[in-house]
Amino acid sequence: MIHKTSFPKEKIKVLFLEGLHPIALDRVQDEGFSLEARKGAMDEQELMDAIGDIHLLGIRSKTAIPEKVLRKAKRLLAVGAFCIGTNHVDVDAAKSLGVPVFNAPYSNTRSVAELVIADIIMLFRGLYDKVRGAHEGKWDKSASGSIEVRGKTLGIIGYGHIGRQVSVLAEALGMRVMFFDVADRLAMGNAVRAADLRDVLEHADVITLHVPGTPDTKGMIRAEQIAWMKKGAFFINTSRGSVVDLEALREALVTKRLGGAAVDVFPEEPKSKNDRFSTPLQQLPNVILTPHIGGSTEEAQRNIGLEVAGKLIRFTNNGSTEGAVNFPNVVLPEVVEHHRILHVHENVPGVLQKINALFGEAKINVAAQHLRTYEDIGYLIMDISKTATHAIMRDLRNLPETIKVRALF
Ligand code: NAI
Repeated sequence: MIHKTSFPKEKIKVLFLEGLHPIALDRVQDEGFSLEARKGAMDEQELMDAIGDIHLLGIRSKTAIPEKVLRKAKRLLAVGAFCIGTNHVDVDAAKSLGVPVFNAPYSNTRSVAELVIADIIMLFRGLYDKVRGAHEGKWDKSASGSIEVRGKTLGIIGYGHIGRQVSVLAEALGMRVMFFDVADRLAMGNAVRAADLRDVLEHADVITLHVPGTPDTKGMIRAEQIAWMKKGAFFINTSRGSVVDLEALREALVTKRLGGAAVDVFPEEPKSKNDRFSTPLQQLPNVILTPHIGGSTEEAQRNIGLEVAGKLIRFTNNGSTEGAVNFPNVVLPEVVEHHRILHVHENVPGVLQKINALFGEAKINVAAQHLRTYEDIGYLIMDISKTATHAIMRDLRNLPETIKVRALF
């Protein structure tokens, strides 16, 4: 599919579904694009009917985008998934059609880190049981088992975006921080890198998990690992439910091997608020259960709106694809003094030679050229003199390897 999409901004048609944050709507409207925003999701047929002349599509997690829909989207430039995951979008099909898909994987980092800090203090003070008791009419003022976090050791497993934020906040509370990560990660502040997983588990007073949910991390905390932990240690999981064996955790809590736990993510989570939630950790003392709300804050929603709308706008205006999940990532300067050609092609031997030959034959001077490849596609960006664009666009369109070509002027 080949088309050129350089025309006045008001002709860029944007369809936003699922009640996106108003900040995202404001951003594309301020840009001058034509926006249609709906509160609900669309099913496949509705989307097929609506998408024909849409340039930018914005969804959250309820609208599925299969290949069938993408093939109907003849003018689609990019998809914005205003959420963390993109499993509901056929990103490979989108890639093959030259359509980048953007999301916002780290917009809620701070929100998760703050919940972890709240969990740590609540666990050390046995706050959850105290609060529940007070609601039930109990007046338990005992200091026994109620401890400060200052000077205690926090063990962080997975020192990525969230792990590092937790590290900084915990040190500000006067905690010592140890961390373990399979990748090389620079320690924040005075945090100390542990030799291995066991090293952290043996030394920490409270352990918090921030690893991804992958086959490698599945069941990484089981009875064996729990046995390495200090007696009475606290345990927090806000990462992914698949990482922890909940029966083993329950056993450790019931036998008081561990002092308490806070869990936000579960191997099986209800699909909607009408479904019942059940876990082996219910009805245990000093166990805080939260319904996967680590990243659910107003700020995170706003950040997601800003981030994804920004990525869609930058891609439309100058071709930058930074943060696309299925596309070569390039950060490009604004287009000044030149025309910019954005060419998506099959990444096969000889294609660049053909493109360069076309420019040579047309005697076009290329002011700047960037090429990035990703899997089986290549993304070539060329800034050229303003007089030559129309002729070369026609030639590029006719190349058999061309997937998509667009000019910005
Ligand atoms: P990230 O990708 O920035 O960091 C993950 C870190 O874990 C990386 O440094 C990686 O090298 C490390 N890692 C991978 N495998 C490991 C292993 N076997 N042992 C030790 N370290 C390992 O991810 P981010 O943004 O910090 O997210 C962490 C987790 O939090 C993810 O599972 C994510 O799905 C979850 N999350 C949960 C939310 C909630 O609402 N509860 C919201 C946002 C994220």
